[in-house]
Amino acid sequence: MRISVIGTGYLGATHAAAMAELGHTVVGADIDPAKVARLEQGQVPFFEPGLPGLLSKHVATGALRFTTSVDDAVDSADLHFVCVGTPQKPGEFAADLRFVDAAFAAVCGRLRRGSVVVGKSTVPVGTAARLAHLVEERGADLVWNPEFLREGLAVNDTLRPDRVVLGTRDGEPSKPLLSAYAAILERGTPLIVTDYATAELVKVAANSFLATKISFINAMAEICEVTGADVTELAAAIGHDERIGHRFLHAGLGFGGGCLPKDIRAFMARANELGVDQAVSFLKSVDDINLRRRARMVDLARELCSGSLAGRRVGVLGASFKPNSDDVRDSPALDVAHAVQREGAAVRVYDPEAMINAKDTHPTLAYSPSAIEACRGADVVLHLTEWEEFRAIAPDDLSTVVDSRNIVDGRNVLDPDRWRDSGWTFRALGRR
Ligand code: UDX
Repeated sequence: MRISVIGTGYLGATHAAAMAELGHTVVGADIDPAKVARLEQGQVPFFEPGLPGLLSKHVATGALRFTTSVDDAVDSADLHFVCVGTPQKPGEFAADLRFVDAAFAAVCGRLRRGSVVVGKSTVPVGTAARLAHLVEERGADLVWNPEFLREGLAVNDTLRPDRVVLGTRDGEPSKPLLSAYAAILERGTPLIVTDYATAELVKVAANSFLATKISFINAMAEICEVTGADVTELAAAIGHDERIGHRFLHAGLGFGGGCLPKDIRAFMARANELGVDQAVSFLKSVDDINLRRRARMVDLARELCSGSLAGRRVGVLGASFKPNSDDVRDSPALDVAHAVQREGAAVRVYDPEAMINAKDTHPTLAYSPSAIEACRGADVVLHLTEWEEFRAIAPDDLSTVVDSRNIVDGRNVLDPDRWRDSGWTFRALGRR
């Protein structure tokens, strides 16, 4: 099939390459000429394992190309995926729909009768019904098809999703979209066909549930901290109950990134508009618990520096919001590094992949070319993003470069005994 993808960020670039992999002819459009220039050369402008190979393979055969012209993209296809971002509005909880509205206006300006527009962006419930009128005026159909891809696993999550959700005007499946996804659906992937509002809500409900699960265990970590209990043992024990499960029960510095934080806030804002804010008022606690973990991390760093961070050296391991990503949007690691710096500490940050993005958003922090260099002369080391590289560090190797052997594990993946055996004072969130 001939497919266009409007917006080529994490979601769109991955979706475009995955559609080419499924055998379609794909053109991706983006308003950022620098991004398009790199994609046209088969280069991925962000870190996503597996994507560079997939993208360059299909750019080389001509099955996948990129353009800055939405008109060109829309003229070249019959099925159009809108994959633009919906960031949080500055100073508000609500989502900023500027890019979605602009993309739909541009697409609808060229749309041919009988074509299909597929919304993939995460939007407040009610958006699809509003946009459907624009699409239908052109004699075309709108489908809402939320994505559930995780950064770092985006290629696999797109090609092998655990479910496909389609929201349509009449609750009937869209034939062109079923054809586009045939290879995925033939594998027996669950297909849920529903109305627009339900499809939109599936996405925010899923992310709200995941955020709530993480904040639940982090709330338990707060209790563990005052009772001498250990949250990692608690999580392991409750996770054996199959109804609860072990996943997303990893206590630590909490969630960040371009989805979970802004999606729960946008959900609260939308519920407020709809007069049902009480239904999701618990999400405010979920958000608050999450942010309190960052403050607790700073407290632990301060405690290890005898009550004041002023004039102390702090080595920070990690800048991305999670490992296997260079995304620093709402990164707990950078938030903590910045807070520690505000208290007067000299902070040095190292991250395997996110240095360029971190320097861009946090130019006042100092950066080091390696973990060892970030920790040189440190009074305390803060482990804030659980990259494999950091888990593999031998405590003895760091012992020789730091000033004081103090470490706080913000992600609960380091082995406390190993560090303590090497003479380190080891602290962690929610652990004795
Ligand atoms: C998330 C959703 O998983 C995905 O379905 C949605 O489409 C986009 O948002 P992503 O932001 O890539 O994906 O990250 P994810 O792997 O879900 O992790 C989210 C955050 O939670 C990370 O900051 C991670 O460090 C944190 N996390 C995750 C925990 O703190 N504890 C856990 O047990 C799991």
